Amino acid sequence: MSVADLPKVELHLHLEGAAPPGFIRGLAAEKRLDISHIFAPDGGYSYRDFWHFLEVYEAATSTLKTPEDYHRLTLAVLEESAGQGVVYCETFLSPDFCGGRDLGAWREYLHAIQEAAGIAEARDGIVLRGIVTCIRHFGPEKAKETALCAAETAGDWLVGFGMGGDERKGKPGDFCYAFDMAREAGLGITVHAGEWGGAASVRDAMVALRPARIGHGVQAIEEPAVVERLAQEQVVLEVCPGSNVFLGVFPSWEAHPVQTLRDAGVPVTLSTDDPPFFKTSLRVEYDRLAETFGWEAEDFRQINLAAANAAFCDEETRARVLKILEAPDA
Ligand code: ADE
Ligand code: ZN
Repeated sequence: MSVADLPKVELHLHLEGAAPPGFIRGLAAEKRLDISHIFAPDGGYSYRDFWHFLEVYEAATSTLKTPEDYHRLTLAVLEESAGQGVVYCETFLSPDFCGGRDLGAWREYLHAIQEAAGIAEARDGIVLRGIVTCIRHFGPEKAKETALCAAETAGDWLVGFGMGGDERKGKPGDFCYAFDMAREAGLGITVHAGEWGGAASVRDAMVALRPARIGHGVQAIEEPAVVERLAQEQVVLEVCPGSNVFLGVFPSWEAHPVQTLRDAGVPVTLSTDDPPFFKTSLRVEYDRLAETFGWEAEDFRQINLAAANAAFCDEETRARVLKILEAPDA
């Protein structure tokens, strides 16, 4: 058996970012929207760099206009994830895109996404949970409205709160109000940091927002004290190596610090972020990591167990997932 066939837990997947380009092109055609500028001649997404990626991401997302669109998207994404061997997944959802942060509209989008998740679970056995994310470059006031949507719908399915977007805009401390509201509602906390903002941004996010997990966090490698702190406090990193290499955070797979972070005792998990945008998939990531670092099935098993233990789901769901990871054929 290849390591790519192992059962997997994925904690860092943006729902819109996982949309197959053909799905988005189809929606654009149905709605007569011209977004041809976001596609390359080969049919994939096209952009120049991370900041242009964020614009293209928002243009692709502009085709998703109704709860029904998100229902279809969720089914398409989970079919792909199940094919990748994912047994448990957490996905980032943005009330900014789902109803413009209006609570009533957000409830309708969430209902549609959850309904699709239920269909996919019955069909393929894959379990999905949601994490509301605010978008950093939209600013702290919008983040408060987003956090209110999250707090009002927190529960067994909507289990976390996070922040994505342009890490070079604003400071983590600007978002304390939103994160405190989410924490008080019982949501698990994760935040994108150390993808573009350096080790200092990881430290700032840890101090200001006290996350249990950090999205990326890999630039912590620039400062040994930050790596040490991550290890000491056992803050879990949602590492997306293919995303980082594709976007140029690191020049190659060999230069990626995922192995060094593991060696330093930082809890590391593996995800794909926005797989079609980065021409990757979890199977591809596992194969590349095995090739690059000589990781074997036991390495990946440990990483998936760490991910299951860091999941924001209820204990009964966690136990179910752990059982599959420990004895995949049982
Ligand atoms: N939104 C979608 N993908 C993202 C990423 N890699 N970093 C920050 N925000 C994002
Ligand atoms: Zn991300």
